[in-house]
Formats: sequence, structure tokens, C-alpha cells
Amino acid sequence: MKLIPARKLAGRLRLPGDKSISHRAALIAALSTGSSEISNFSSARDCASTVDCLRDLGISVESKSGKLLFPGRQQLKTPRKRLDCGNSGSTLRILAGVLAGHNLTAELVGDESLSSRPMRRIIEPLELMGAKIKATDGKAPLKIHGSKDLTPITYKLPVASAQVKSAILFAGLNARGRTTVVETSPTRDHTERLFNGFGVPVTTNPDLSITLDGPARFSGGAITIPGDVSSAAYFIAAAMLLPESELIIEGVGLNPTRAAFLSVFNSWGADISTSNLQTERNEPYGTIEIQGNVRGGISQTGNRQFAIGNHLIPSLIDELPLLAVVGSQIDGGIRIRDAAELRHKESDRLATTAKNLRAMGVEVEEFEDGLSVSGPTRLRGALLDSYGDHRIAMAFSIAALIADGETEIAGAECVAVSFPEFVDLLHSVVVR
Ligand code: S3P
Repeated sequence: MKLIPARKLAGRLRLPGDKSISHRAALIAALSTGSSEISNFSSARDCASTVDCLRDLGISVESKSGKLLFPGRQQLKTPRKRLDCGNSGSTLRILAGVLAGHNLTAELVGDESLSSRPMRRIIEPLELMGAKIKATDGKAPLKIHGSKDLTPITYKLPVASAQVKSAILFAGLNARGRTTVVETSPTRDHTERLFNGFGVPVTTNPDLSITLDGPARFSGGAITIPGDVSSAAYFIAAAMLLPESELIIEGVGLNPTRAAFLSVFNSWGADISTSNLQTERNEPYGTIEIQGNVRGGISQTGNRQFAIGNHLIPSLIDELPLLAVVGSQIDGGIRIRDAAELRHKESDRLATTAKNLRAMGVEVEEFEDGLSVSGPTRLRGALLDSYGDHRIAMAFSIAALIADGETEIAGAECVAVSFPEFVDLLHSVVVR
């Protein structure tokens, strides 16, 4: 993909449904006693992987007038073939939790990137609950022998991961008694909100423990998935960096465990406001309005490097490559620490972000758990690589809009993993 600089972003957008919420809504609908209807389901290839796996497990899903329809009272059955999770960590890890609680055997496989990502983090708790899981060196393919009669556990998460938390909570639906997951830092809480929204009480306690009493079944019902705030992040960043931009994004998810980047941008002097706040099955959403104002050195107090780390990391995890790009434009630059998890995403996002930033002329220091990015730096157009990672492709498309000259991103078609409409929507609001 080739990109040239833009003057501003202008217009009004609505985005496809949130990826994380879509995965969970589909799994909940498949397991519900009543029928379900999902509107604005994510168009991401990752979410199609979840639906395809459910179909291979014998679940009937009808796609009609832009909605997904699930009849109630369905039963998962042993699939006739391996379940292909594609590039999607959420599909593989959360579905593993679902399968752990059913009397069946299934094999979960993924593409090359997914097959290299760590899976011990779900194998350990699910085996403690009574499932049997065979892996190769702690990685996919995973062969799961589930059981309808799991043992409830209390489990402290060794890594901050919403996928692992969710796998345990989905397994807990078929455990007799109280399942407790203890987090060290809060991660995205869509599973908790949607369980409560679909009739399965989950309690989040001040000590960061989450409890669920099993066995439990979902009621089913209708949901309209809020627009994906992680997809919105790219447009928001571009609009704030291009002076005179005026962009409105409607119906977008505003869950605080996902939207922390908005406060970071505002603390850098961006002009981002939210309005029209509503909720859908406990998920907050609303309108985001951005005025461009910050090109050429975002105002921060003093000239110190802006530091991000610790408990803030999980609520910014998918936006960190983008924050590094925007951070290259602020006075003093940005320093990201405590983010070693980024090395286990669709690519090693610390390495791939650093390589692309350097190619655009930015001074970057790489740590085992983070990056130090100097700023403000005038970016120069360059030949970049997506490294097969959708978030790297999108973050650097935004860098390309503020760079001098042309930028080419090799392998940018991987954006379809989370946001197939990205390029068309970007063109629809870019003014040159
Ligand atoms: C996700 C959780 C995060 C995130 C991923 C989606 C989810 O992964 O990076 O894009 O839907 O639960 P981890 O749970 O591995 O941090």
C-alpha cells in the first residue's frame, strides 16, 4: 500500500462492531437457552474465524440483513475437522475455555503467527479445572478433551490477559461452584459486562478478583455491537495530528478498560470530546469528536519524555504501536515500559514498531519491555513492512499521513484481520 501526506481529516464516521465484544457475543449466543440476534457484528476476519469455528462445532448461525441470528438451546458437538482460528488469539484462547467445559474432543489450529504464540497461560488453568489439553511446546495446535463437570478454581493470572481471564470464566460456566480469577492489573472487562448483560452474574471485587458461580446458562437476546474503539484510535490520532481536522465518530465503544488512550491524547493537548453516552448490555458507547490542533510538537508540560507503564499498559495494549507513532511527535517523546507482552502479539510489536519508526527517521531505543521514542521528529516517507501485523500496518498508515513524501507499507492487506474497511474509510475522510 502506498500513502502520501494528508492536509486534514474531515467528516463523520460509524465503524464496524468492536472485535473483542463480537467474539464474546457470538460465543454467548451459541451457548444461550434463548435465541439471539447480533447487529453490527465485527467485519474482522478474526471474528469470522470465531463464527466459522462455532459452525464447525454444530452451531447454527444465520446471517440475515446484516445481523447474525442464533436459535437458542443449541449443543456443541465434536467437530469433524480441526477448528481453524486463523490469526485470532481471542478465538483460540477463549474458545479453548468454552470447549474445556463440554464433553467433546476438538483440535484448535492457527496460522503461522498464532502457532508461535504462548498458550501455556490457558492450558494451565483449564487443566487445573479438569480439561485435558495436548500442545506442542506450549503452543498451538491444541487438542482439547473437555468435560461437562469441571472443578471450580481460584486462579491468579500470571500475566495481565483478558483472553486468559475470559477462557477461565467461560470454563467456569460448567464448573460446579465458585470460579475466581484474580488479576494483577485490570484488563478489558467485556466478558464480565456481557455475562451480566446476558443473565450470568459475575462479580468484580475491589481486590481485582472476579467471581462466577456455576453452573450457569445465558438467557440470549439482542445486542448491537458498539463501534470498535481500537479501530477508531487510528482516525483519532490522524485527526489530532493534522491541524484543521474536524472528525466525528458515532456509536463507538467507550469502555474505560479500552479507551485509556483518549485520556493520554488529551493530556498531550489534543482536543477530543465525548458525548451522547449510552449503554448496550452494560457496554458504554457514544460519539467522539476530534479537532486537529497538535502538529509539530504537541504541548506537554515541560520538555520531559512522557512515560507510560505499569497498570496503565493493559488498557492501552493494542494502541501502543500507535502511541509510539504519535509519541514521536510530542515534545520530549515517549517512553513505554512494562509492556513485554507486546512481544507476544501478532508480531513482536516492540521490534516491529522500532524498525518502522527508525526507517522514518526517528531515534528509538528498544528495551526488553518497552521503547524510548524521541520527539518531536519530522517523519520522512519510507519503505516499511507490516510484518503481517494488522495493528502495525494501521499505525504506520497514520505515520505516513504526517510524513514528508511517499510511504509504502509492504503486506498491508493484513489489516483485514481486524478492519477490512480501514483503507476505504481513511480515504473517505482524508483531505489533501
Ligand atoms: C483481547 C485481549 C488482548 C488484546 C487482543 C484482544 C481480547 O490480548 O491484545 O487484541 O479480546 O480479550 P491479551 O488478553 O493477550 O492481552
